[in-house]
Amino acid sequence: MKENKSIIVLIVILCIAFNLKAQVNIIPRPTKMEMQQGNFVLNSDTKIISGKATSAEAGFLAGILEKGLGKTPIIKKKGEGILLKIDKNLSSQLGKEGYLLEVTERGVTIRAQTNTGIFYGIQSLRQILPSGFEFTSKDEIIKIPCIKITDEPRFSWRAFMLDEARHFQGMQTVKDLLDEMALLKMNTFHWHLTDDQGWRIEIKKYPKLTAIGGFRKDSQKTRNHPEDLEGIPHSGFYTQKQIKEIIRYATERHIEIVPEIEMPGHASAAITAYPWLGVLGKRTEVPVVVGKLEDSFNVADPRVYKFLEDVLKEVFALFPGEVVHIGGDEVRFEAWKNSEMMQNFMKEKDLESPADVQIYFTNKISNFIDGTNHRMMGWNEILGYNVHEWQQDADFGVKQELAKSAIIHFWKGDIDLIKTAVSSGYDVVNSIYWDTYLDYNYEAIPLSRAYNFDPIPNGLDPKYEDKILGTGCQLWTEWVSTREKLDNQVFPRLAAYAEVGWTAKSQKNWETFQKSLIEMEKRWKQKGIKYAVEVEK
Ligand code: ACM
Repeated sequence: MKENKSIIVLIVILCIAFNLKAQVNIIPRPTKMEMQQGNFVLNSDTKIISGKATSAEAGFLAGILEKGLGKTPIIKKKGEGILLKIDKNLSSQLGKEGYLLEVTERGVTIRAQTNTGIFYGIQSLRQILPSGFEFTSKDEIIKIPCIKITDEPRFSWRAFMLDEARHFQGMQTVKDLLDEMALLKMNTFHWHLTDDQGWRIEIKKYPKLTAIGGFRKDSQKTRNHPEDLEGIPHSGFYTQKQIKEIIRYATERHIEIVPEIEMPGHASAAITAYPWLGVLGKRTEVPVVVGKLEDSFNVADPRVYKFLEDVLKEVFALFPGEVVHIGGDEVRFEAWKNSEMMQNFMKEKDLESPADVQIYFTNKISNFIDGTNHRMMGWNEILGYNVHEWQQDADFGVKQELAKSAIIHFWKGDIDLIKTAVSSGYDVVNSIYWDTYLDYNYEAIPLSRAYNFDPIPNGLDPKYEDKILGTGCQLWTEWVSTREKLDNQVFPRLAAYAEVGWTAKSQKNWETFQKSLIEMEKRWKQKGIKYAVEVEK
């Protein structure tokens, strides 16, 4: 009889545990979740308890709860409800982005050392609520299971990159993406704003950048077929006022924007607007085809440095973040090699090869950026190694050494180059293309491959692990001309990359992720996000 009783108790406990577990589907998966018995009842009388220090996050939470509760919850300084509390003593345990979330029968408490931690606690709370809660306007009573979550990210750099040069997507799409990033606790929006096929940010001192560089007559429709054109013009750019609006929106979501202004290659749109910027300067219209185009900035000309510094000054006046991305990838060297001015420049500066010229140029830009209390980031070509099969014959003799303050954005080449970079003192963000490029189809990068990516390369000496700041996933948009295509490429893989960036390796679990994704996909569906459904998992 006693034994029977024990078995029944055990079954009840297991049922409760299973039931609770089944209800908590947070992406990215938190560091620690302890289920407890009981529920907190959320209803239209529930209040948010917040002081001045967390008033912005309280306002955000009120906006989130409004629809499901049928009214905007009251925000009060004292009492019971959902308490948001900055707790400086948590610093040693949970770092700058960590939080504690505790649901008891009496209320919900989110504690963190910073506002960002509070914000992330709110994102977890959102995911504990039923997935339809934020979308259905009915005065429902919701039972939240009692739980204690202790959480902090694995990496400090958790980025998503959007290329708006190839196809301009516009303000609403950017805001929608920022919303999804925030829910997934991604903290860096890498905004690729200039390239050969378009210049998308207003620069007041050089208005032709957008007036000319923001427009192209046509677009290449299929890979490897430059003759196959869409037959329609493409244009668009952000005014500085619109950029400020997007920055405000991102800041409210604790997302820092890293703008990318490409130099010295991928610069045809700028060179079309101001031909003296180029070595050839022959271009009369913004390219309609994609690829590695022949002209680059003429870095032997002092006017080019003045131009880039002017542009960067306007960029810094807009963006509050520390880091600016200067591209630096895929520079074709033929134009530099065939330029008499460049040959003289190389002699004068004792530069060995075009690769050496690029490092010299990049260091000058880095020096300027450092002097404005910012930090330069660039694709890994800025280190001066040859990583391209199409450049096998190029001369890569280098005498210069890249400034150590540079953040290396690793995307191509032998993975051991990451080890070389970190052991030489550089910080690295790992965005190796075969694991993190969102423009690749699901055959090349299935969801499981995205999920299983580890930004720390195999065999890296543990003493260098903290030199890997984190990871980014990148949507290049040569072939992404519609919102539907964008959604299909980005979702659901964005959720996998969010977990790569946030969740401790020991906590990652593919089966649990897949289960949690079902709830996330319900949300996306209600928002009209056309996530890929036929993904090979
Ligand atoms: C790149 O994909 N060219 C960075």
